[in-house]
Amino acid sequence: MPMTFKEREVQELEEVALREIQTGKSAEDLDRLRVKYLGRKGALTQILRSLSRLAPEDRRRVGNEANRAKESLESALNAALTALKEARRAAPPALDVTLPGRRFPLGRLHPLTRINQEVCDIFLHLGFETVEGPEVELDYYNFEALNIPADHPARDMQDTFYFNDKVLLRTHTSPMQIRVMEMRQPPVRIIAPGRVYRRDSDLTHTPMFHQVEGLLVDKGVTFADLKGVLTAFVHEMFGPEVGLRFRPSYFPFTEPSAEVDIACVICRGEGCRVCKITGWLEILGAGMVHPAVFEAVGYDPETYTGFAFGLGIERIAMLKYGIDDIRLFFDNDLRFLRQF
Ligand code: PHE
Repeated sequence: MPMTFKEREVQELEEVALREIQTGKSAEDLDRLRVKYLGRKGALTQILRSLSRLAPEDRRRVGNEANRAKESLESALNAALTALKEARRAAPPALDVTLPGRRFPLGRLHPLTRINQEVCDIFLHLGFETVEGPEVELDYYNFEALNIPADHPARDMQDTFYFNDKVLLRTHTSPMQIRVMEMRQPPVRIIAPGRVYRRDSDLTHTPMFHQVEGLLVDKGVTFADLKGVLTAFVHEMFGPEVGLRFRPSYFPFTEPSAEVDIACVICRGEGCRVCKITGWLEILGAGMVHPAVFEAVGYDPETYTGFAFGLGIERIAMLKYGIDDIRLFFDNDLRFLRQF
């Protein structure tokens, strides 16, 4: 039997509705379509309502067709809705620009590394070249060539870590003076930063600490040059207003020798616990290179003169940052290290 006009109308309605459902982009779109076709005043509902006005045999056929179309649209709408929900779950969440940013942990330099770099930079700008040498050192370089005789108290097992009679952990960076002069002819202008070791441990001493050695050798170098260079260093490091003094001292490898003090950074020279009431803090040892040292490396002491100095990095860091316990540098407590 040929399709009635009414049946075709139902089928065309269904086709149009299905196409529209497919293009629906949101739950609201689909809701609107549900109302448009299946709602109380929807197009398909109207047809179903009008069945009673049809002839009995048409009524059955159009009714069947309309009910089938209704089910088809309902399942198409449900399928579209499920697909939308699924797509939303799979898609990445929208970017919320108001969320606080993620903090990236930033590393920083250890305070001793920073002070070491600062010290080396200052001497670099004064024309000094940086050299490095071994921490496991020969007795010859650490003591003998530096005019430290065999019976000198510094050679005592109490102070020095020995591997055997001839090999030890260097107790200062001064052996670098010898190593450099053995390899080069004057003029020499070097600094040598590095670790040094002594059998010592308390509030102001650790078995390992850091020094920077300095050495300048040329014709006509005088104590005035030593004073000029070290004064420039202290002013650069601690500020031009900080007082300093050169105090006579003794080292076997320099003559004359001096120690350099700066006015106490805590009490500014008034006298306090840190400077032990003196108003002064020692920051380095220095002096004119001893002729016996020049002889050990084959330099002619009649032709050349020079000065050397050695300073402690921990000591300078403690003074600069106002730290009263040297061991803090080696505990690796992040609460301490993060302050720099
Ligand atoms: N080496 C000496 C020390 O460790 C410091 C120093 C170096 C003194 C160079 C004079 C010259 O105490």
